[in-house]
Amino acid sequence: MKTISVCSYISSMGMSVPDKVSTNDYFAAYLDTSDEWISERSGIKERRWAEGDIGISELSERAARQALANGGFTPQDIDGIVFATVTPDYAFPSSACLLQKRLGITQCFAFDLAAACSGFIYGLSVADGLIAAGRARNILVVGADVLSSLINKQDRSTCFLFGDGAGAAVLSSVSNNETGSKRYIEGNITELSGLYAIDMRSDGSLGGILTAGTGSALRASAERIAANEHCIKMDGREVFKFAVRALADVSLNVCQKTGINISEVTHFVSHQANMRILQGMAKQLGIPEERVPSNIARYGNTSAGTIPILLTEMIDLGRLKKGDLVLLSAVGAGITWGAILLRW
Ligand code: ACO
Repeated sequence: MKTISVCSYISSMGMSVPDKVSTNDYFAAYLDTSDEWISERSGIKERRWAEGDIGISELSERAARQALANGGFTPQDIDGIVFATVTPDYAFPSSACLLQKRLGITQCFAFDLAAACSGFIYGLSVADGLIAAGRARNILVVGADVLSSLINKQDRSTCFLFGDGAGAAVLSSVSNNETGSKRYIEGNITELSGLYAIDMRSDGSLGGILTAGTGSALRASAERIAANEHCIKMDGREVFKFAVRALADVSLNVCQKTGINISEVTHFVSHQANMRILQGMAKQLGIPEERVPSNIARYGNTSAGTIPILLTEMIDLGRLKKGDLVLLSAVGAGITWGAILLRW
């Protein structure tokens, strides 16, 4: 019998998206584009945008509450919040602290993490490390963004890609041993639930192909905002080429780390950036597209939100079953990318 050691598993999940739907015809009404072009090049039919000043902590509250309720957790059970977002409510306080207040959690650590579309993978990885170090037993990991706050609606090559959304997971320790050193448990690799292998990468030298936002290096001013300098700028072709290669590479790597063959993976839950990127990754890995679930048609790219939203929908639809092997993967601005292989 082949064994594996794990220290954490996803014990529950939740999601929330804004009510307002914008279809591709919204753009076709004022730009030189069409529903046909957008659908064919990206797979996106519609997306949700938060209205007014709804910030990311407000949008995430419902997802977080759902995750807590689904796992039977009270606020007191949560030892920490890791909030992956690149569209925080403010520079400070962090969205993690704002969410902590909304949830009425009185004692826990809380911080934001910026890894763009790879945020949920990074968040799970960091939370898994904190659990392995004995710093927490249950961590609320949120992946969420309000990218509508950074869209240049006059840029027809990027504006249709992005939507708003939030997903949340509670990552829990597999061990009941609160203070002892035995935080990993070993079990049969064909049945033990938990995070099996993680690969987290970044390459800052490629950061220029996808940028957005104001900050200390690009101070906000009325002129800059009026000129849309704070909005998303992207070299779509470069991002596309890099994403297909990188997703396939890290997917193979987490399989190799565990000795599991790629053909054994039940679901490839990959960041929803573009349907053609998902098809390209499937082709490179030699896997059938049926194993690459997608909801990009309904939500577009919600950045750190895509993976936890898709996982939650799969659970609700009964598509994700105990014992399934799931490979999470993502690429995002930074450039960051990564993968996690887990058994549900
Ligand atoms: N409607 C009609 N025509 C358009 C539009 C539009 N909305 N946008 C661009 N075009 C035109 C271009 O001007 C170009 O015209 P030209 O040939 O006369 O110059 C032509 O269509 C082809 O443009 P490309 O940029 O080559 O189109 P492509 O097939 O690469 O698709 C897209 C563009 C969808 C942005 C693609 O590059 C892509 O998806 N890249 C990945 C980017 C991505 O997903 N980013 C998300 C954030 S990063 C992440 O999450 C990993």
